[in-house]
Amino acid sequence: MPSYPVNAVSTPDGQVNVLQITDLHLSSHVPAAANDTSSEVAVCQYSFAAIIKQALSKEIRCDLIIVTGDLVNKVEPAIYDHIFAVLKNTGIPFACIAGNHDVTDETGKDLPFYQRTLIARDADPRLLSRHLIESEHWQLLLLDSSITGKVEGKITATDIDWVREQLASCPKHALIALHHHVLPVDSNWIDSHMAENAEEFWQHIAPFKNLNVIIHGHTHQEQTRLHQGVAVYSTPSTCYQFKPFEDDFTYDKSMPPGYRWLQLANNGKVASWVERLDT
Ligand SMILES: [Fe+2]
Ligand SMILES: [Fe+2]
Repeated sequence: MPSYPVNAVSTPDGQVNVLQITDLHLSSHVPAAANDTSSEVAVCQYSFAAIIKQALSKEIRCDLIIVTGDLVNKVEPAIYDHIFAVLKNTGIPFACIAGNHDVTDETGKDLPFYQRTLIARDADPRLLSRHLIESEHWQLLLLDSSITGKVEGKITATDIDWVREQLASCPKHALIALHHHVLPVDSNWIDSHMAENAEEFWQHIAPFKNLNVIIHGHTHQEQTRLHQGVAVYSTPSTCYQFKPFEDDFTYDKSMPPGYRWLQLANNGKVASWVERLDT
């Protein structure tokens, strides 16, 4: 059984196959039945477990699971206990970072987004910050972009310094994982809640040609962009989806829950794709 958190990954061929899951939004530690679609709570409970099962039943070897935030919809240790138990049960090394919902409770979930009250909460100590995972050819840098009590994110000056030092001192190909998006996804409502100092962040990382890929959650949708030579992957939620390119908050009820694979090749190339939960 791998210990948590994972610091190093070693594979027979050097390549690292990463399963990214994000935005689980669990509100309960009680697993839900497959046919329970009575509420969003039940759907999120079920689809998290179903996605883990589906992804790991594929031919592809999974070397590492990265969970990029919004694990819960309600900050309660018992829900994290449940999520960590499911992930530990896979026998695959994994790492989890915080999203806004891991440090902020929202009241009035039935109200429009801008009328909800935000309550600051401490992050669960199992969520990682400035965490490094190394393989033979890659360095994976995990950042906590959450701000307690807020929806938008930030990459702190300390984190930026840490990233710059890592990228300067280690020539391996690099991946950065964080919760908030660092490029607009062209939806006004969610782009007003991205990492607020994204432009500054991009300026700081511009000199480092070994940075190949950034993965994030928060947007609940699939997008791929290339910026400053870096492939930037936005990944669907394991539960509900937001409709791309809508300026006001809009669910995408037609799109099933999803997850992302990344194959990190020894030469720095990245193959990545999204899969959706079989319905
Ligand atoms: Fe989310
Ligand atoms: Fe989020």
